[in-house]
Amino acid sequence: MPEERLQKILARAGFGSRRTAEDVIARGRVTIDGALATLGMKADPDTQRIEVDGNPIRLETRETTLLLHKPTGYVVTAHDEQGRRTIYDLLPDAPSHLRYVGRLDVDTSGLLILTTDGELAHRLTHPSREVEKEYEAWVTGVVPEAALEQLRRGVRLEDGTTRPALVERLPGEEPPTRARLVIHEGRNRQVRRMFEAVGHGVFRLQRTRMGPLELGDLHLGHSRKLTPEELNALREVVGLAPA
Ligand code: URA
Repeated sequence: MPEERLQKILARAGFGSRRTAEDVIARGRVTIDGALATLGMKADPDTQRIEVDGNPIRLETRETTLLLHKPTGYVVTAHDEQGRRTIYDLLPDAPSHLRYVGRLDVDTSGLLILTTDGELAHRLTHPSREVEKEYEAWVTGVVPEAALEQLRRGVRLEDGTTRPALVERLPGEEPPTRARLVIHEGRNRQVRRMFEAVGHGVFRLQRTRMGPLELGDLHLGHSRKLTPEELNALREVVGLAPA
C-alpha cells in the first residue's frame, strides 16, 4: 500500500475522526518505527510499525461500502482539474482506496455507492450486470403520454438506442412534469439525453435507488455504511456470496 497521511491511518484504526486522530498525533502519542511522529507525516502501515502510547495499531481489514447522498455542485471524480469540489470533500475520513461506483453528473443529486471492494465495484458497473437505477426527474413542460411511451420503449441517442425502461408520471400539478424512471444502463447523462430526445429538458435529477439500496432519509451531503443486510442484498444481485 502507498504512503498515506498518518491521521487517515489512525482514523481507519479506530482512533475516531481525522480531527481526533490529529489531536492524538499532536499530543506526541504516536511513533513510526520508534521515532516520534508529528502532524503532516505520512506512513505505510504495511511496512512501518505505527504505535499509539506504545501499542501497535490494528487496522480495519474488512472492506468498506458506503452510501452517500450526493448534493449538486460536487463532481464525482478523485481530482477535478477545474478545482471544483469533489465528493471526497464530503468524505474526509474515507480510506484512500474508496472508489465510487458509477457516476452522477455535477448537477445531479442522490444515491452514490462507494466501496473499497474492487470486485464488488467491478461487478456493479459491468454492462452485463448493470443493476437497476431509479431516478426522479423534474422535466420542463408537460410531457405527453406518447413521449413517455417512447422513453419506455427506447429512444435513439448518438451512442445507440436505449434499452426498455420503466417510466411513469408522478402526481402533481403540471408543468413541470415529475417522472420516475428505472433504467438498467449507465451511460453518460443518460436520463437528461433521453428527455432531450423527446423534446424536454431535465432541470432537476435525483437518483433514489441503485439495485436493492434506497436513498431513504439519508441527509443531503451525509454518508453511512451499509447494514449487513444491505451489503448482502447488493452482493447477491451481482452474484457474490454473502460477506
Ligand atoms: N442520468 C443523467 O442524465 N445524469 C446522471 O447523473 C445520471 C443519470
